[in-house]
Amino acid sequence: MVQREHGPRLRPSLDGIPSYKPGKPAGVDSFKLSSNENPYPPLPGVLEAAVAAAGDFNRYPDMGVGALTAEIAQRFGVPVEHVATGTGSVGVAQSLVLATAAEGDEVMFAWRSFEAYPIITQIAGATPVPVPLTADEGHDLDAMLAAITDRTRLIFVCNPNNPTGAALHREELVRFLDAVPAHILVVLDEAYREFIRDEDVPDGIELYRDRPNVCVLRTFSKAYGLAGLRVGFAIGHEQVATALRKTAVPFGVSQLAQDAAVASLRAEDALLERVEALVAERTRVTAALRAQGWTVGDSEANFVWLRLGERTLDFAAACGEAGVVVRPFPGEGVRISIGEVEGNDLFLTAAEAFRKEI
Ligand SMILES: Cc1ncc(COP(=O)(O)O)c(C=O)c1O
Repeated sequence: MVQREHGPRLRPSLDGIPSYKPGKPAGVDSFKLSSNENPYPPLPGVLEAAVAAAGDFNRYPDMGVGALTAEIAQRFGVPVEHVATGTGSVGVAQSLVLATAAEGDEVMFAWRSFEAYPIITQIAGATPVPVPLTADEGHDLDAMLAAITDRTRLIFVCNPNNPTGAALHREELVRFLDAVPAHILVVLDEAYREFIRDEDVPDGIELYRDRPNVCVLRTFSKAYGLAGLRVGFAIGHEQVATALRKTAVPFGVSQLAQDAAVASLRAEDALLERVEALVAERTRVTAALRAQGWTVGDSEANFVWLRLGERTLDFAAACGEAGVVVRPFPGEGVRISIGEVEGNDLFLTAAEAFRKEI
């Protein structure tokens, strides 16, 4: 008789991947400043486009994502062949890893950075190579160059970095890109691009144009406020974009998401006004924290970072009691998304009370 095992045999490489733990939901009385979401509701034109598309959800979406791809290409001044979309930029990032790396290959990123990087690397069976951040919370580009091996296939550069908010400047990034061997794909993850105000931080789209091994990741989840619809995109040379279309989940981007993203690009002025208000709040929150005595770096994203070490979980609990859900990374620090003025104020009050106790 065939020996029965307990359940199907799964790939051993999955053992190193943490199971998904849903973020703590905000209670009815609390503000969710834990997921870098946009606190504003959808703009009217965007909502109407999504509602209109909802009437047809018995149909599959446009598999080629034609209208959105054309709109993105026009908005960023790139050929349509250079655009590939996916289920959020994390979906596109996963497709990029699947397109470049397999068992035995290495995927490099700064650490701490976006927590999906090690996970999507291991899903592909490849080896994550985390390179510690510098003392001022940014990418250590020299250490990253030194960590390149003949197995390196992809390097994520998260600019600005999640969760620290630090951003790389043009000169250092260009020097890095010039030093990376041309067969390694460098992915400039610019999920927070629209929140950057430091003019020395380059737009990745300037940098990819004459570099076939560079591609840029963008998302509609943050500044554009479509996190729940799951749509992001990459801009890269044709070889990369074509590979992305092969590794993406077919029909992954719903028609609701496609149409809402097109409408968002058309409502960009109104959307970016809201981004301006969030940037003003970021400046206010940063200044208030500094006045309270905290050490806070300049953030170019829609969140701020407090390195709290062993106090991280206590601080997050104190915020929770005050009605604000923040994102702790145990033993390291807490990331606080910039939200509504009222939520930011509640957070600042909790931070001040905590500061007085330590
Ligand atoms: C740096 C970075 N990249 C990508 C993403 C993924 O966002 P989405 O999949 O919603 O586009 C996030 C989300 O937090 C992020 O912080």
